[in-house]
Amino acid sequence: MQKINNKILLESIKFAEGEFLPLQFIEKQELIEEIVQKFDTLNNAQAEKIKLSDIEIDDDTLLHFDEPTEIIQEDISPQVSEKTISNWQETTTIDELNNSISGCMLCKFGETRTNIVFGDGNPNAEIMIIGEAPGKNEDQSGIPFVGDAGKLLDKILEAIHLSRQDVYIANVVKCRPPGNKTPTEVDFIPCLPYLKKQIELISPKIILTLGAVPLLALFGKGYQITKVRGQELKYNGITVIPTFHPAYLLRNPNAKRDVWEDVQKLEKIYQNIKSK
Ligand code: URA
Repeated sequence: MQKINNKILLESIKFAEGEFLPLQFIEKQELIEEIVQKFDTLNNAQAEKIKLSDIEIDDDTLLHFDEPTEIIQEDISPQVSEKTISNWQETTTIDELNNSISGCMLCKFGETRTNIVFGDGNPNAEIMIIGEAPGKNEDQSGIPFVGDAGKLLDKILEAIHLSRQDVYIANVVKCRPPGNKTPTEVDFIPCLPYLKKQIELISPKIILTLGAVPLLALFGKGYQITKVRGQELKYNGITVIPTFHPAYLLRNPNAKRDVWEDVQKLEKIYQNIKSK
């Protein structure tokens, strides 16, 4: 970041909302505090302490910003816990992997979760869907996407003639972040190897990522959901179609048209694969 002042800070917040901190559920005040904290850690003489009460962000800001301002770098080295689970890397089936991480306490979300939300659907599916993190309903049931966003996801699948039996659904983060806070990179680093192992074991032909977090988790910074949605990306040779998160659609129904285009693309690719 070249210059830090209120204007750039505001853009950073907007960028954060649209890019890798979409913060669909987070209180805006919490978001602002988080960003300000990051500024504090920069210890940059130019950084001005922000009066939180002066800042207003509306929900649709991400749509108004084309060029993101670079966000503050964090130390994201993995936290190695004493309770690291020893044998999950050697597992050869989804059930084995699920069982082997059932006591995971690698991150602080383990302390507050009710259930680990590992994944759901068909372990032999050719389509894998990756969301962000479980919410309250998922935490209670242990099943991903069972709340309002999940109901919308079911409808989206139905519209392209698919059901949960045709896909495998997982999240980047397996335990509910308290307050449904959108996970940051720091939050998902301990959990990400589990997702990567799930992808390896499911071995899907197509992945549909929902929202900014799985995009960041699989591709790193530089892939903005608003810019790359609907494009065909590749992750380890697997076709990835990024689209908006259903929770975002619940708040921004106008984006449904985009998602409809994206999933139609997915359906076409899937039909092509099946016809071979
Ligand atoms: N949102 C997600 O990203 N995942 C869920 O399982 C539920 C809501």
